[in-house]
Amino acid sequence: MKVSVIGAGTMGSGIAQVFAMSGYETTLIDIFPEAVKKGKANIEKSLAKLSEKGSINSTPDKILGLIKFSSSYDDLKGSQLVVEAAFERLDVKKDILAKVSSNVSSGTIIGSNTSSISISLLSSFVKEPENFIGMHFFNPPPIMKLVEIVNGNRTSEMTRNKISEISRQLGKEPVIVNDYPGFVSNRVLMPMLREAIVCLEEGIGSVEDIDKTIKLGLNHPMGPLTLCDFIGNDVVYDIMEVLFREFGDPHYKPPVLLRNMVYAGKLGRKSGEGFYKY
Ligand code: CAA
Repeated sequence: MKVSVIGAGTMGSGIAQVFAMSGYETTLIDIFPEAVKKGKANIEKSLAKLSEKGSINSTPDKILGLIKFSSSYDDLKGSQLVVEAAFERLDVKKDILAKVSSNVSSGTIIGSNTSSISISLLSSFVKEPENFIGMHFFNPPPIMKLVEIVNGNRTSEMTRNKISEISRQLGKEPVIVNDYPGFVSNRVLMPMLREAIVCLEEGIGSVEDIDKTIKLGLNHPMGPLTLCDFIGNDVVYDIMEVLFREFGDPHYKPPVLLRNMVYAGKLGRKSGEGFYKY
């Protein structure tokens, strides 16, 4: 089965790596050649780590050899599954999905890695909405076990079953949820991240102490502000905006501090500075 992934950022490159690690012939496409280069470097770094620990049953070179890196939608040809992992912006996804849909043959499943945009809405941009589904991976995709499969209003049972089966083949645990803002993962996570940022804004604690409280007191692998930097503060901001708009609930309202950090380019690990300096 040939798989294509659109978008070579942290998630897209990680998702392409996950497919290749399970032996899928994979194409990673990003219209920006620089992004493709960066995505390839991410995969090389991650494979080197996993190989060092003996947790891949092939060599990094062989896995890398299964991935074609491209900047052209022509390379979608022959794909039976396409996973869209572009920016969390409706206009960007709309444009990409329409292009993908007109470049693949009938019967191709298109999955979106969106973290918050409605799958039913995104499905209206493709020719075969019954073959469209949410396939939400978690950062870092090679490590995190979950795939949150999101059932759109017109997703067929066949598509749902196929994506559950593929997720298991990837060594992941699927959960199937219905199309509701933020699905389950971000609906639950975002208010926690928001409260941590508000605690900082209100001077209740320092960045380090807020993180320490949650990490050691609640036994989370990372403190919430470290997690914001890890996900990307721009991504967190975009997700909160969608949830706030959809629910109208102030628990999702993006804090002004987060907004100002995004405007200032303090996006977290990827930009070298967020709540912490890297
Ligand atoms: N590729 C390969 N290996 C990786 C890796 C990657 N990209 N990232 C981390 N690792 C490995 C490390 O090599 C390390 O391996 P060992 O334990 O065998 O040495 C292991 O993972 C742990 O890494 P670290 O020691 O560097 O750090 P850590 O113990 O803090 O673990 C973590 C890192 C797995 C990311 C852990 O901190 C964690 O689980 N954090 C929470 C992550 C999380 O919540 N992700 C979901 C975010 S939400 C999302 O993605 C969805 C959305 O819609 C926003």
